[in-house]
Amino acid sequence: MASAASPSEITSIKAFAESNGSSPIPSTYHSLTEPRDDVADHLACSIPVIDFSHLTSHDPQIHASTVHQLANACAQWGFFLLTNHGISEKLMEEVMEKSHEFHNLPLEEKEEFADKGPLTAIRHGTSFHPQAEKLHYWRDYLKVITLPQFNFPHKPPGYKEIAFEYSRKIRGVARELLKGISESLGLDAESIIESTGFDSGLQIFAVNLYPPCPEPDLAVGLPPHSDHGLLTLLTQNGIGGLQVKHTGKWVNVNPLPNCLIVNTGDQLEAVSNGRYKSVMHRAVLNNRDTRISLVLVNGPDLDKEIGPALGLLEKEDPLFKTMKYRDYFEIQQMTRFAYKSGLDEIRHN
Ligand code: OGA
Ligand code: NI
Repeated sequence: MASAASPSEITSIKAFAESNGSSPIPSTYHSLTEPRDDVADHLACSIPVIDFSHLTSHDPQIHASTVHQLANACAQWGFFLLTNHGISEKLMEEVMEKSHEFHNLPLEEKEEFADKGPLTAIRHGTSFHPQAEKLHYWRDYLKVITLPQFNFPHKPPGYKEIAFEYSRKIRGVARELLKGISESLGLDAESIIESTGFDSGLQIFAVNLYPPCPEPDLAVGLPPHSDHGLLTLLTQNGIGGLQVKHTGKWVNVNPLPNCLIVNTGDQLEAVSNGRYKSVMHRAVLNNRDTRISLVLVNGPDLDKEIGPALGLLEKEDPLFKTMKYRDYFEIQQMTRFAYKSGLDEIRHN
């Protein structure tokens, strides 16, 4: 028998998993549509690696060859590991530790942050939207809007300060990557930053926690999806689970020590006029270890109209309509349950 708790009453899968032990999981967590046998492990070591210190190198040749690597990584994978990004190991460890402490707070302490909708500054919850969905996902989250204004929970002590530092460092790395990506498209380095209003843009700081799951092949951490922003920068606590879709197969992402995992988002697909596809990815579970991922989605200014870069349209037709990022974000939040991309709503056909 599954547990007595009715799944829609589960406000934290962490708390549920701890009380449920190794008993079977509720059937509303059974994902019957997610095959697990289509993982192409031989491709895992082919995920591109980009050396950030080469991208920012003052040697024009080293820089140019890295821009070229970035072009290939974005066009062929939409996914790469970023080494030598300059964010200290200490900061990465501290932000991970505080993130764990946050999720370890008693439920009552987190109640004040209970999710009240997509554009609220701080929201804590489980799955996506337990009251509205048929299938639930085995993860808890904290999602915070950290740009253009910085918000953050005031507990545990010290979390906010560390998160601020991490958020700003990540933004700096994302900004440099966007400059390289702009160049890789044959545009001026500042082009995407300017056209998307990146310097007054959105950043969402998500802290996902995936408790061990006694039936890891039945439940899913996160279903296949693409991210809505321009670039997502992710780190995890050393426990695997992230998979990326590549040439029709799922590939396990095995990060290098201290690297950042980067993926392209919907807005970059639109800006690049389809050249850099927003990559599908998902999170799978295990029955031993708690997995934590820090996922920072870096997007345009919410009030900016976003569409294919004008510099690209001199030679090609636009594949996407222009839409305010705020409106796109709303559509994307609504369509993500439907196993389709928000991009379908703005694609010219
Ligand atoms: C996300 C995401 C993957 C992970 O939060 O958008 O893709 O490994 N997370 O947690
Ligand atoms: Ni994602």
